[in-house]
Order: sequence, then structure tokens, then C-alpha cells
Amino acid sequence: MKWNLRLALLSLFLPILLNAETGRAAWLRYAALSDAAARPYLASLPASVATFGDSPVLESATHELISGIRRQLGRTLREESGLPAEPSFLIGAVADIPLMKDAALQLDPDAFLLTSRTLNGVTYTIVTGSNDRGVLYGVFALLRKISLGEPITRLNERQTPYAPIRWVNQWDRINGTIERGYGGNSIFWDAGHVREDLTRVAEYARLLASLGINGCDINNVNADTKLLTTDFVPQIARVAAQFRPWGVRIAISIDFGSPQSVGGLATFDPLDPKVAAWWQAKVDELYKAVPDLGGLVLKADSEGRVGPSTYHRSHADAANVVARALAPHHGYLFYRGFVYDHHMDWRNPKNDRGRAAWDNFQPLDGQFDDNVIVQIKNGPIDFQVREPASPLFGALEKTNQAIELQVTQEYLGQGKHLTFLGQMWKETLDFDMHAAATPTPVKALVAGKTFHRPTGGFVGVVNVGLDDSWFGNQMSQANLYAFGRLAWNPDLTAQRIVDEWTRQTFGDDPKVAAAVDSLQLTSWRTYENYTGPLGLQTLTDITGNHYGVNIEASERNGWGQWHNADETGVGMDRTVATGTGYIGQYRPPVTAMYEALATCPDDLLLFLHHVPYTYKLHSGKTVIQYLYDSHYEGADAVAAYVRQWKALQGLVDEPRYRQVLAQLEYQAGQAVVWRDAVTSYFNRVSKIADAKGRVGHYPGRTEAESMTLDGYTVREIVPAEDASGGKAVGCGAAPPPGFPGARAGRGQPPPTPARTEPCTASMKFSGAAGWYSLHVEYFDQSNGVSRYRVFVNRQQVDEWSADLAIPTFRMDSSSSTRRTISGIALRPGDEIRIEGKPDGGESAGLDYIEIVPDKM
Ligand code: GCU
Repeated sequence: MKWNLRLALLSLFLPILLNAETGRAAWLRYAALSDAAARPYLASLPASVATFGDSPVLESATHELISGIRRQLGRTLREESGLPAEPSFLIGAVADIPLMKDAALQLDPDAFLLTSRTLNGVTYTIVTGSNDRGVLYGVFALLRKISLGEPITRLNERQTPYAPIRWVNQWDRINGTIERGYGGNSIFWDAGHVREDLTRVAEYARLLASLGINGCDINNVNADTKLLTTDFVPQIARVAAQFRPWGVRIAISIDFGSPQSVGGLATFDPLDPKVAAWWQAKVDELYKAVPDLGGLVLKADSEGRVGPSTYHRSHADAANVVARALAPHHGYLFYRGFVYDHHMDWRNPKNDRGRAAWDNFQPLDGQFDDNVIVQIKNGPIDFQVREPASPLFGALEKTNQAIELQVTQEYLGQGKHLTFLGQMWKETLDFDMHAAATPTPVKALVAGKTFHRPTGGFVGVVNVGLDDSWFGNQMSQANLYAFGRLAWNPDLTAQRIVDEWTRQTFGDDPKVAAAVDSLQLTSWRTYENYTGPLGLQTLTDITGNHYGVNIEASERNGWGQWHNADETGVGMDRTVATGTGYIGQYRPPVTAMYEALATCPDDLLLFLHHVPYTYKLHSGKTVIQYLYDSHYEGADAVAAYVRQWKALQGLVDEPRYRQVLAQLEYQAGQAVVWRDAVTSYFNRVSKIADAKGRVGHYPGRTEAESMTLDGYTVREIVPAEDASGGKAVGCGAAPPPGFPGARAGRGQPPPTPARTEPCTASMKFSGAAGWYSLHVEYFDQSNGVSRYRVFVNRQQVDEWSADLAIPTFRMDSSSSTRRTISGIALRPGDEIRIEGKPDGGESAGLDYIEIVPDKM
């Protein structure tokens, strides 16, 4: 084929390729409006755009406007210079647009104004800002309006960001993996270097800019010292260059021991002048390569990182020595408030990790330099499904602060469960800490409004990766969207944010919008219901992969995420009267509310109090019955999500429809695993039966270990509640106890068992003739791809591979996965046979089969 013919064909297909719905364009798809929706815009759409000023950010703004309108409305704006004589878009900073110069406008940094002006009978639609970044934000806001069907004529809308710090952190390692990242490998790093191809970085920068996010820390807070080596610095500059056109500044995480480990000094004592000089020289070097570097992020004296305690210095000493090096360059030092002792004695009832942030930082209030920002996690523990606001927010009056929210769903389903976090964040941001006479919600405190601090704001731990979906789950994108929108304006409602996201991401079919909004907006409560309600925190394997259920993992160890469940009761006594005193770290009105059982909210009860299982909640229900009921409600809700999503078939593009369906079906199975594990655990510990008779009774369920086994052997599952009946079967001999990697997600995979031929588990059906669904609960580990086949008598009715990427090498609650085979006609006496063919270290494990009548 002739080359130019090939090119012509390519350009014909290119739009189709670009339109393929992979999720990579996220909410910036700019889907074409229907004719009816486009009509009002086309009626008055200016034909051209003139840009005033000249910068990479303005160039992005102009191109975004042109390409957005091209895709939404099918019109290509003419680029003009000077003031066109016809109606036009004028974009540029307030000081640069001729018609705006005399306007007495005081716009804050990054703020924008969408307005119109008429001159000599010509009306101009103006997108302006105090700076070029504001202009870019204005363009995104204008395009969003079109996507949402809102008018863009005769606008007079000014938006000012709530806080100057609107940052994200990525926990990317330079080897290319991401700590707590669930959307593939790093977009920045690969095999110890910055990636050759940084296309995804530029795309990420654009997504961030569309939300008004203006900073990104590009490496893990558990920092690799290599980043500060002289050879490495030019690589960082390449990343910064991708962010710059989108007004996003980068930061890097540093290790506090660097003066010694990188600089070769004998010490890293922050009060040693040689150490201060080293930091100054290093920071100067960084700014030479990246003149607009936003700053540095420091995790010190936390989870094994070195810090000032080595020299008996304070966190303020540590922060200030770096901050002083940054100050001449106007850079910030983000000092992580996540400092706690992870070797705490659990036997001492006064010990409490929840106290740590306040205990470490409150006494230092006033000692931090003005370019230090203490970065505080939303709650006192660690991104659990529900925590109260950290008391530290209300305790710093002379220190800049930022709230750290986690977008990556480390304890919240890891991109495999739908869990929208907008309401959770809003509850914290709106919570009144009573730090002064007038209301002092967390959002105002962190933004520096309450105590008139020079800076502060919002930091989101995001951890996007190379997957097209960015997060490993299309629906998780809503969390980044919500973080960014709340950082810009925390007064937006969660409903508004979700609805904006849904309509830009999936289109404005009212049926789609209503269903997706409802899935998102109910999902946090649903996840909480089946993973850890009443303030128990996420009952996951906190010493392992943070994914599956492991209730005891939080107990009796130094990590301090205790919930103190025993036969008499459950919950952490954090009261002032009899407990750890944590509640006393709040200001008096908050202390009073949490201290008294009568006013303590049920949702936080077990985070703050130890009560008997028979304690009655405000609703009148006992704690134990609530634990049972909420887990059943949660699992039922996810099953309903599958049905609700299925109703959208044909209304959502096929690729994303299928992806979300598979994710929700998987989640529905996992919710049952969680439900059964948590309810059977508390049933065993409390010895109190479920008033509704469900716990321990599973209609239609047959345990694999009680089926007729050929080649399969019975395995004890640890912890017992991770498998139905505490046991499961694996094909071939069991791996030796305590093999390396026995702990979920840790160490090496177990040795590969020799067996590769299939095993079978079979049973005779004894129910009435009818149509049934078979739920096969099997184990999908990450160290093999087993194959399964299911037969009814001699007829094969299903087959599949256990090929999901689940973070465990073992048969446990993380790998426990449900396969549903619906519409099977069964007759009494039928043989149901499951054949599992092991692969690698995965032994085609089975937990049970549940046979339930199909609904007519
Ligand atoms: C959590 C998380 C770690 C992370 C740490 C932090 O504990 O599991 O991976 O390093 O938070 O925020 O520093």
C-alpha cells in the first residue's frame, strides 16, 4: 500500500481508536453532545479564540478549549491573535486581556473568572484568571459546563480555590512498583530510572489540572536515597517538564538520613551546621534542575524510617533544617504527621496508637518554620473504613497543616471493591473541632483560615498506575475526581460531585446517571457494613496485604490497631475516665460528646468505647445483632449492585460495561466471604446467636471437605473464619506448614507442589427438581492459574481459570473467590462434580458449593 494512502486510512480510523472507551481519558472524554443538547451551544458559539499572553500553561488552555469543543460540539475554533472583530473566546490572565485591564478585579492566586464583555457591539466570552493556571482552570470549568449541559453564555462566575495546597502524593518506587498501588506499575519509574516514555505522566498532569490540583510528589514517602544523588537529578527534571504545561509542580520525598547516606557526612543531626549546609547545597542543586520544584516530603521516625530521634532532636528541628534550605526558593517542606510506635505493648491498657499524632506534634506547635506544612492523615490510625477526625487538626494554632486523604483504596478494597469516599472525606472536613469560638470545621483549619496561617490545604495519596483505568477499576476514578473537587471547594456536596463525575465519565443518559450515582453514593456504607462497622476499623489483615479478612491480625501485637474483642465485649476504651485518654485530646465540647455513651455516635462507638455485646445502640439494637445485620445488609447490597449494573447493558459502552460488571460480580462474592468470616468470628467469641438464625446456617451449602474427593486433600485454613467451616480442600499434598510466604502477601511463594493432574470433588444433589444457581467458592491465588470445570452428571456446565491478580499466595479470605453458574436444571440424584487442575503454587482450592434456587 502506498504510504500516503496508509496515512489517509489511518487518519480515518484514528478518531475511532481515540474514542475506544478504555477509561484512560477518565472524566475528560468530552463525549459528543446529542443534537438536541448541542443546539443551544451552537446557536451562540463564538467561532474563534484569541489567547493573550504566552506560556506553556496558556498553550495547554488554548488547545484544551479547541479540542474539547471540537469533540463536544463538532466545531473547530479559529485561533486568532489580537482582539477579533467577531464574537470570540478571549483567554488570558486578567492583566493581559485588553478588555479586562481596567476592571477592578482582585483575583486570588489560581482563581478564575468566566465572564463576557461587549465592545463595539461585539460580545466576547472571557476566561481569565489571576495567573495562567487560573486561566487553565477556567477553561476546564467551561468545558465541564458543556459536558453537564449548563449554559455558557452571559456568565459571570468567579471561583477561588479554598486553599493554596491542593496536592497529590504518589507512593511510586523507582523500581517501577507502587506501594499500595492497584492500577499497574509506575507511570514515572521503571527499573531504577525515569521511564523513557512519559506520555502517561502528561496525561495524568492534565487530569490533575482539570480538578485544580497544583502539585504532585512523585516518589514513595518511604523514600529511596538514590533520588538525591547528583546523577539522578536530571531525570527528575524530565518528569517536571511533563507536569509544567499543566501548572502542576512536582515534589520529591526524601530520606532524613541522606546527609550521611548520600552526602557521606558522619552524621545527619539536624542541628549540626555541616548537615544544614549539606541540605542547602542539595536543595540548591535540585532547584537548578527544577526551578519550579514545589518542595520536599519527609517521613521521619515512622515505620522504621530514620528521624531526629536518633540525635534526641525534635520533629521541628528535623523539619526546619530542610525547610530553611527550601525557603530561598519558596519551596515547602511537608512533614508527615504519621509518626507512631509500632512496637507498642498491647498488654498495657493505657497504650494507644490513636494518641500518637497529637502526642508527637501538639507540644511543638509554634516551633515549625512558616514553609513547613504538617501533613496529617484524616484519622488518628491509618485510612480505616471509618475513623474520627484526627484530634491534631484542632490542636495546631501556630503551625501550617494539610489533611492527607487516601485515594488509593488500601484498606478499602484496593480497586477491586467499589468504595466511593467522597462522603467519608466530607464528614471529616465538615467536622467542627471547636478549636475557637466560631465553628472550626477541619476544612477551615487545614486551609489555614481559622488561625490565619500562610498556607495549608489538601493532600491526596493517589497511586495511579499504567493501567488504562488508572486504578484497576473504572469506578475508582470517582475518588480522584472527588478528592480534587473537594480540595478546590470542600463545600460541594458528594451528590453533586458524583453526578458531575458520572455524567462526564459515562454520559448523560438519565438512567445511567441515576444508577451510577446511586452505586457510588451507597458504596462506602456498604463496604463498611461488611468489613468493620461501628468504628471497629477495617477488619483486614493489617500485618499482611490489607485486603482480605483477618480479624485477629489487629489484636495482640505492637501495631496498635486493636479492637479488643473478647468474650465479654468489644471496642477500645479511649475515654478519659477509664481508658487511654485519647478522647481528652479533643477540645472540650468534642471530648464531652465522645466521652458520654449517650452522645457518642454509634458509627464510632467501638473506636472510642469498650462495651458488652449486649449493649444497646441508639437504635435499640444490640451491638452483636448490629454486627450480624450490617454484614448481611452489606453483602445483599453488593448483590443488588450487580443487578442494578446489569440494567445498564447497552446504555454504557461495552468494554467498560463488561469491566465494571466483572468487578461487581467479584465484589459480590468477596462480600459474602467477609460477611461469613466476621459474623462467624463474633458468633464464636461472643457465644450469642444471631436472632435471625443466619449465622452458621447456609442454605444449600455443601463444604468441599465433606464432598467425595479424588486427589483433593483437606486443609486447615488459618485464620479459621477465612474458610467456611474453617477448612477447604486443595489438589494434592498440602504445602509444609510455615512455608516461606505463608503470610498473605509477604515473602516468597510456597514451593510448587509436584501435582499437575486434576482432582475432583463431587456430591449428589438431593433437592427438588428445578432451576438452580451453583455458587462455587474457590481460591484464586497469585502464584498460579488453576483451571476449573463443573459437570452435572457427564455434562460440562462451566469452565474457567483462576487468573485474577489477588495479593496472596495462600488459600485464605483474600483468594476466596465466587463463581456463579446460573440457570442449571437439577434433578434429585444428579451428580455435581468439580474438577480442579492445579498450576504453579496454586492448588485449585475449593471451599464449598452452594446450590440455590433461581428466582423466577
Ligand atoms: C500505611 C501504609 C504504608 C505507608 C504508610 C504511610 O501504613 O500501609 O504502606 O508507607 O501508611 O503513610 O507512610
